[in-house]
Amino acid sequence: MDGAGLRRVPGSPAWTQPLPADPEATAAAAVLRMERYTGSAFARMLRFMGMTTLEWEAAGAVVRDVHGNEYVECGGYGMFFHGHSHPRVVEAVRRQAGLLAQSTRLLPHLPQVELAERLADCAPGALRYSFFCNSGAEAVEGALKLARAATGREDVIAADDAFHGKTFGALSATGKRMYREPFRPLVPGFRHVPFGDTAALAAAAADAAGSPGGLAAVLLEPIQGEAGVVLPPPGYLAAARRICDEHGALLLFDEVQTGVGRTGTMFAAEQEGVAPDVMAVAKSLGGGVMPLGAFVATPEAWAPFDEAPFLHTSTFGGSPLAAAAGVAALESIALEGLLERARAIGQRLDRGLHEIAAGHRASIVDVRGRGLLWGIDLRSEGAGGLLISRLLDAGVLVVYSLNRPKVLRVMPPAVATTDQIDFVLEAIDRAAAEADAVAADLT
Ligand SMILES: Cc1ncc(COP(=O)(O)O)c(C=O)c1O
Repeated sequence: MDGAGLRRVPGSPAWTQPLPADPEATAAAAVLRMERYTGSAFARMLRFMGMTTLEWEAAGAVVRDVHGNEYVECGGYGMFFHGHSHPRVVEAVRRQAGLLAQSTRLLPHLPQVELAERLADCAPGALRYSFFCNSGAEAVEGALKLARAATGREDVIAADDAFHGKTFGALSATGKRMYREPFRPLVPGFRHVPFGDTAALAAAAADAAGSPGGLAAVLLEPIQGEAGVVLPPPGYLAAARRICDEHGALLLFDEVQTGVGRTGTMFAAEQEGVAPDVMAVAKSLGGGVMPLGAFVATPEAWAPFDEAPFLHTSTFGGSPLAAAAGVAALESIALEGLLERARAIGQRLDRGLHEIAAGHRASIVDVRGRGLLWGIDLRSEGAGGLLISRLLDAGVLVVYSLNRPKVLRVMPPAVATTDQIDFVLEAIDRAAAEADAVAADLT
């Protein structure tokens, strides 16, 4: 807390925007209007969790709310590898806005071409051709369409608890029933197998290959994010590669959450030495500033799109502004050593979170992760709610895992300082102690 009773975090930036005169009233009125015009569910949840504030300004790893309290960003659904408003990305977008903000769509523009070239340079294996879109779900959707067009087959195998987005195709691959049931019938031809079980994948692939539709693709996250940060057993992704090759099916990797540095390498699949035929990316690709997604494919997989350029299109996808942000995002990673930084922070989190877990066995079952993607697996969803709100009070933003809410995800940016990471670890330790005490009261 500073002199005015406001909570500060280490390395707080020099804020530029004035706060409203009456923050309490501003926040309350915003929630009421939100309820009135965007529905009540989110507002209800905020009230239930006692969250009565608005995000106001952010820079680097720090967010400031409408009251002037500060938080270390470890959430953002994983899109802030570069932190908030990374200066290089913001400057690139500003420059591009003065030059050409949107594309004519008839003529090519430089930012998109440059981004495609940079992605081909850093993507695993023979991935080369990029299609740009605006979100992770769109990237997965495009990858699925390409797989069917490239193989002339129908079936897709995805993993239980996988999260690929909520458009119809991506949702059909998503492994959580609750998100799927209200929208049936979904896209036909999808089946799910337990993540990490090679024998189950091989059996499902053989079955699909022998079915009338045939096996088009296997779609996997190299590390499952929304399932609660689930790491594949060693050799699993390589086995998936072999199984796809055996059946002439495509291997699709969804690196929407894991890609662009999040796990300490540019793409998580690199750490397993496996390259897919098509890779979906989004989130951090826009540098935490612009919405940007892409799917990147090998020339062989891309063949149907080469024959018909309008087979898959998007008005806004890869706009000059978004592409300029993407170029600057990739440039920053190289120029600022952000992958090395992510790995160093990852080691600190690995050590710190394991120590915390060992000291709070009543509430924490396990911690796991890689680089800047960590999951704290709690004994109950209730403990998750308690931890989120205690961490919020302490100045740390973390998020649930959508498909397994009892796992909290800790996803700091690569620009976070050592002091900020230690601040986060200390806050988690204190919050876990409270969760332990509650767990003890309940037993
Ligand atoms: C692995 C993965 N794929 C796809 C998506 C969907 O991305 P979006 O929310 O941008 O549509 C997400 C979002 O969390 C994700 O984690």
